[in-house]
Amino acid sequence: MPGKMFIEGEDVNLRTIEEEDAQFLRNGVNHPEVRIHMGNRRPQNLENEKDFIENAVQDEDDVNLLICKEDEAMGIISLKQKDKASKLGEIGIWLHPDYHGNGYGTEASKLVVEHGFEQLNYHKLYARAHSDNEASKSIWRKHGFQKEGEFKDHVYTEGEYRDVVYYGLLEEDRL
Ligand SMILES: CC(C)(COP(=O)(O)OP(=O)(O)OC[C@H]1O[C@@H](n2cnc3c(N)ncnc32)[C@H](O)[C@@H]1OP(=O)(O)O)[C@@H](O)C(=O)NCCC(=O)NCCS
Repeated sequence: MPGKMFIEGEDVNLRTIEEEDAQFLRNGVNHPEVRIHMGNRRPQNLENEKDFIENAVQDEDDVNLLICKEDEAMGIISLKQKDKASKLGEIGIWLHPDYHGNGYGTEASKLVVEHGFEQLNYHKLYARAHSDNEASKSIWRKHGFQKEGEFKDHVYTEGEYRDVVYYGLLEEDRL
């Protein structure tokens, strides 16, 4: 059974990450269609994922949640505190490719944006994406994030350098 429901949406719910999710996480983060976008260069085995889960649970500043459809795990979303004084947080997300393109990423990120502003009192949230990652850029734009900058040749993956774009949303500019 997956973890306890923490945030409930319409099609998606966000649950606590439990030790038994390690296998799902390993299968997701090593998938080429996921790791290329996340900058995962090293293979991640079950032990790595168990360490990730232990750290995620102990970390008091960050929110890490399992994205589920009913009780089926589809991916992970995180909201990391980048600077406490500035009330600045960064969102990261991935879904296993089996679940791409169904609106789940859009809904999961919307729930975490709401949580960040309404429960955690963030002033600004941002996300990073490779400039050719249309799905990722699209979800931030849909929530009102603005493109704030582009870093040229900022990451090397799949044999080429790629630009990285930053999307940011101030609390006062929420849709
Ligand atoms: C990015 C990601 C989380 C998006 O989640 P998703 O559930 O697949 O996205 P959605 O179904 O909610 O669709 C989001 C938008 O992207 C568009 N989209 C989806 N896949 C696309 C693709 N391959 N190319 C272009 N647009 C795409 C959808 O049409 C939708 O836009 P629309 O609502 O204007 O039609 C998911 O694709 C993913 O996990 N990718 C791999 C990891 C990753 O890139 N993480 C983000 C790193 S910054």
